[in-house]
Amino acid sequence: MTPSVLSGNALLDRFHALDQWLFQQQNFWQEAPFTHQQLSWEAQHPELGQWLRQQSLEHAEHYQGQPHALLNAPAPFAELAEQAQRLSSLGPHPQHPSHTIPARFAVDVPGRKWQQIEAFARCLPPPAQTVHWLDWCSGKSHLGRHLLHRLGGKLTSLEWDAALVEQAQQLSAKHQLTATHRIQDVLAESCQQHVSAQHSPIALHACGDLHLQLLRLASRQGCPQLAVAPCCYNRIASHDYQPLSQTARGAQLALTRSDLRLTLRESVNAGQRDRRLRDQSMARRLAFDQLCRERLGQTDYQSTPAAANKWLHLPFHQWANRVAEHMQRPLTLDSHDDEAEALGWQRLAQIRNLELVGNLFRRPLELWLLLDRALFLHEQGYHTRLGTFCPRELTPRNALLLATKSD
Ligand SMILES: C[S@@+](CC[C@H](N)C(=O)[O-])C[C@H]1O[C@@H](n2cnc3c(N)ncnc32)[C@H](O)[C@@H]1O
Repeated sequence: MTPSVLSGNALLDRFHALDQWLFQQQNFWQEAPFTHQQLSWEAQHPELGQWLRQQSLEHAEHYQGQPHALLNAPAPFAELAEQAQRLSSLGPHPQHPSHTIPARFAVDVPGRKWQQIEAFARCLPPPAQTVHWLDWCSGKSHLGRHLLHRLGGKLTSLEWDAALVEQAQQLSAKHQLTATHRIQDVLAESCQQHVSAQHSPIALHACGDLHLQLLRLASRQGCPQLAVAPCCYNRIASHDYQPLSQTARGAQLALTRSDLRLTLRESVNAGQRDRRLRDQSMARRLAFDQLCRERLGQTDYQSTPAAANKWLHLPFHQWANRVAEHMQRPLTLDSHDDEAEALGWQRLAQIRNLELVGNLFRRPLELWLLLDRALFLHEQGYHTRLGTFCPRELTPRNALLLATKSD
């Protein structure tokens, strides 16, 4: 079946199906292999657990972005993969080609960002009336300027970083576009006055609370239309996720901020060097954790300071001594302990392969969250459509919510 854009009753049907499935299968995705030495599902499915623990880091790397393509893993992997794919299928929004944007517009925008913006813009139908775009957490407001040029209207952008706002102003001046770029914390009380029924908000990759705030304010003020591509669902202030929609408030699934991290466990955009550094940092943290368990009797994973990444150039024992000092742990290593790092790499390979099971639930969980947002807008009187605006290779956060106020 070809994946389709979700709207109307399909939003509710899919939400209920996902809610039930994610709730029933919680064991498979709620525990993070990084912090749990043994996962509870391994007791029920020892063959799968053992098989994954024997695979290499390269194996995990290969499948991490496409876990459903792993066909030879023991049961119930394939069954879960099939269910996950079916429940998270989402089709692309229809495209509305319009005149091409002059190449000079692309000069100041990083390539991938430009492609994302073009794809986002193609999903917006030509407006029947003059639109006042409100670019939310706009950065340099590349998206706002693009839409202003492509579809006309007016532009206001809100961004709290003064340097970015200044650059936005300079770019608008350079392209001879009239726009208002405001320095504004969108979470502050004062933001309300900048959102009104005249505005059509657009948001490309505004994180957790930032896009939630937009949906609440825009629907309260009666904005005629919204286009929002959310990201970083776990960037919320509260410990527990507070659903927006009535439907999700009555759901079986109750999520914490830490559950939401799963939606971000994907790094299609990270370069090879960054991945290597990230892996080395994790392998060392795991080796350090193991040493603390063996020598200090530690029983739970204790997170190591972010500063540890700055010392990665040091040999393992020196790195670990700095970390121990920072964490005030009575642990002193010498060069003989450098071989412990290899054990860290081994544990990393096991963890990454075990994570493949949780990764099957990443997109379904993201869709549950997106549907909460879509259903909220639906409850507020919006005709809401949820689809993708670009392929996943361009950004894993490729879902776009389009909402139009019903008459
Ligand atoms: C991921 S970037 C997206 C920027 C832009 N929409 C784009 O796609 O290029 C998120 C932006 O949100 C801004 N931001 C973060 N917290 C904010 C807040 N409380 N109020 C306003 N802007 C905020 C950041 O400075 C950053 O420019």
